[in-house]
Order: sequence, then structure tokens, then C-alpha cells
Amino acid sequence: MSWIERRRREEYYRKAKDEGFRSRAAYKIKQIDEKFSLIENGFRILDLGASPGGWSQYLSLVNPEGLNVAVDVLPMRRVKNVHFLRGDIFEEDIWNRVLEPSPKGYDLVLSDILMHTSGDRSRDQANSFFIAKRVLEICQHVLAKNGKALVKTLQGDLTEELRAEFKKRFGRVFLTKPPSSLPRSPEVYILGEHFSG
Ligand SMILES: C[S@@+](CC[C@H](N)C(=O)[O-])C[C@H]1O[C@@H](n2cnc3c(N)ncnc32)[C@H](O)[C@@H]1O
Repeated sequence: MSWIERRRREEYYRKAKDEGFRSRAAYKIKQIDEKFSLIENGFRILDLGASPGGWSQYLSLVNPEGLNVAVDVLPMRRVKNVHFLRGDIFEEDIWNRVLEPSPKGYDLVLSDILMHTSGDRSRDQANSFFIAKRVLEICQHVLAKNGKALVKTLQGDLTEELRAEFKKRFGRVFLTKPPSSLPRSPEVYILGEHFSG
């Protein structure tokens, strides 16, 4: 990691500590929200891969009148205004569990999930593609018409295929990398708006 990247990481780490966020990741969702006006107070939001809870803390602040449901295979310390479900997105019928607190579905589905990286770039990319496809499958069951989804993936050969999958289901699709995501990291976020089902 370069000196500049290390400094950037430390800067966000310190900022998160000072501002009471559990992870630097909170700034990624904040910056994407500021750029794309992602969140409206009152939304029903599903936060997949939520632990340790930086994104959930942000949701708690900007969506206090809505419903925030967080899911992770790992435990997560309580966040005010957030309903946590411990679970794996690959569980059969996970959609039935996430629909329990919000039977009419969600306005926004977020996924910051990353499997343990192996260091093998193409394998890591394939895993992230597989996760994003699963999140799309979950959207088919839980995302409301015209809803939005924001999904982390690792940029590579499969990114265009994933973008094409999003385009089949969303009216508008963007690929974005917030400033707090380190430039050397291949992570990018795909945003779909106007879900058609
Ligand atoms: C980068 S972290 C998320 C950070 C979080 N957004 C925050 O702001 O603190 C990725 C999370 O995905 C979770 N995860 C990985 N595979 C998962 C799966 N199959 N189902 C649910 N969560 C998963 C991990 O346990 C980890 O907590």
C-alpha cells in the first residue's frame, strides 16, 4: 500500500473514531448517499452484510422514521433504530426471514458483503459476482417496484456481465466508487434505480 493510501485509510479510521462510527465503511454509504440521494427518511431499508455496523449506524441517523433491517452471519452490537437478523444470504428462503419485519418489502436493498478474500484476484472476483447475483435474487423477492439496490462487487472481467444483469431489472444503473474507498482496492458499487421486478 502506498504512503498516500495508508494516510487516506488512517484519516478515515480516525474520523470514524472521532465521529463514533464503528467502521470506516460508514463513509462509503454516506458519500454514495450524498452523490445519488439514495436514502429518504421513511424508507424500508435492508442492509446485507451489516456487521460491525457502520452502515447501520448511518442508516439509524438518516432514516430514523423508516425501518432499518440488518443481516449478517456475524453478530452485531445493537444499533438504535436497527432490527438485526443473524443469517446467511445463501440460506434457503432467506427472503421469508427478511420479510418478517417488513411484510410489504423494502424500498432499498444494500449489500456490502465480501467473502473472505483469497488473494487470488479472479477467484475473489468470481465470488463477489456470485454474491451480487444472490443479492439480485433476494431483490426479486423483497424489493418494491421502483425500489433501489446498491451492491458491492470487485471490478474485473465479470463486472460488465453484472451490470447487464442489473440493466435487465432496473431502469437506471450506475457504477460508483466513493472517495473513501481506497483507489487500489478493486471494490466498486453497482447502483440500480427504478426496479421493475
Ligand atoms: C465489509 S463487511 C461490512 C461492513 C459494514 N457495511 C459496516 O459498515 O460496518 C462485510 C460483511 O459481510 C458479512 N458476510 C459475508 N458473507 C455473508 C453472507 N453469506 N451472508 C451474510 N453476511 C455475510 C461479513 O460477516 C462481514 O461482516
